[in-house]
Amino acid sequence: MVESIKPYLIHFITRYHQDISVYDDTFLKNAINERQAELGINTDSEYLNYLENNIEEASIFSGKLSNSYSEFFRNPLSFAYLAQVVLPQLIEKKKNSKEKEIRIWSAACAAGQEAYSLSILCDELNDRSTSDINCRIFATDISGDALVQARNGVFRTATLGKVCLKRIQTYFTCHEDVYTVIPSLRKSIDFSAFDLLSDNGSCPPASIYGNFDLVFCSNLLFYYKPEFRNRVLEKIGNSLARGGYLVTGETEREIVMGNYYREVFVNSAIFQKRG
Ligand SMILES: C[S@@+](CC[C@H](N)C(=O)[O-])C[C@H]1O[C@@H](n2cnc3c(N)ncnc32)[C@H](O)[C@@H]1O
Repeated sequence: MVESIKPYLIHFITRYHQDISVYDDTFLKNAINERQAELGINTDSEYLNYLENNIEEASIFSGKLSNSYSEFFRNPLSFAYLAQVVLPQLIEKKKNSKEKEIRIWSAACAAGQEAYSLSILCDELNDRSTSDINCRIFATDISGDALVQARNGVFRTATLGKVCLKRIQTYFTCHEDVYTVIPSLRKSIDFSAFDLLSDNGSCPPASIYGNFDLVFCSNLLFYYKPEFRNRVLEKIGNSLARGGYLVTGETEREIVMGNYYREVFVNSAIFQKRG
């Protein structure tokens, strides 16, 4: 452990009953440095003193630990591979099976950009294929604020940079700088609260039994210490159907590769469970 973060861990647990020790040491240290720089504070003892004497600072600091940034089609390579290879394969598999549903979970969905991107892909595939296969999408996050935004389905231009004009015209209504997803897209996703670190269940209760063909857990793992990353990966592994896929963020590939998964296509950050 980085020695200089120890006093912060103790401070947050004793004073605010918030266990920040689950976060990766380097991530915590960067958050501390960033906050100190914003305040023009140079030493840890000075910042600990500031935390002690400014009641609102703990929640400002906690906010730094919960980044909800997301984009539509955030990693274009992953989405292209899903559209061209993974989803068509899943459709073929389902055609020969009794289950006529592709089950998808966006496991840290932020304001829903990832889940809506997946819903767009599924809708386009349904239009092209003659099969009767449906996609069922569950999307969860720990943040209540993010889920409220997700259910509203209202976005500003900044998160839509990777959405082509045809998709914007088909799946959004636009008023000035504000884009709202069309009702059928909003209704295609079941949004709910779910803490990936909690011991209660391995999948969103609304999905009843998991059995997912595809799980997105993107840009979350690197916030946490290795033991908690492993816990999340194990939980997702338990929720995946046989032959199911896991998609992570580009920068999280190394974390997953050493684990229970193998990458299905080089640099794609798309994995299947081993064995
Ligand atoms: C940076 S966003 C990533 C959003 C999206 N997956 C993407 O890649 O664009 C990280 C999200 O993880 C959520 N999160 C953090 N810890 C979580 C946990 N223990 N359980 C569920 N969601 C969590 C945050 O609330 C945030 O919305």
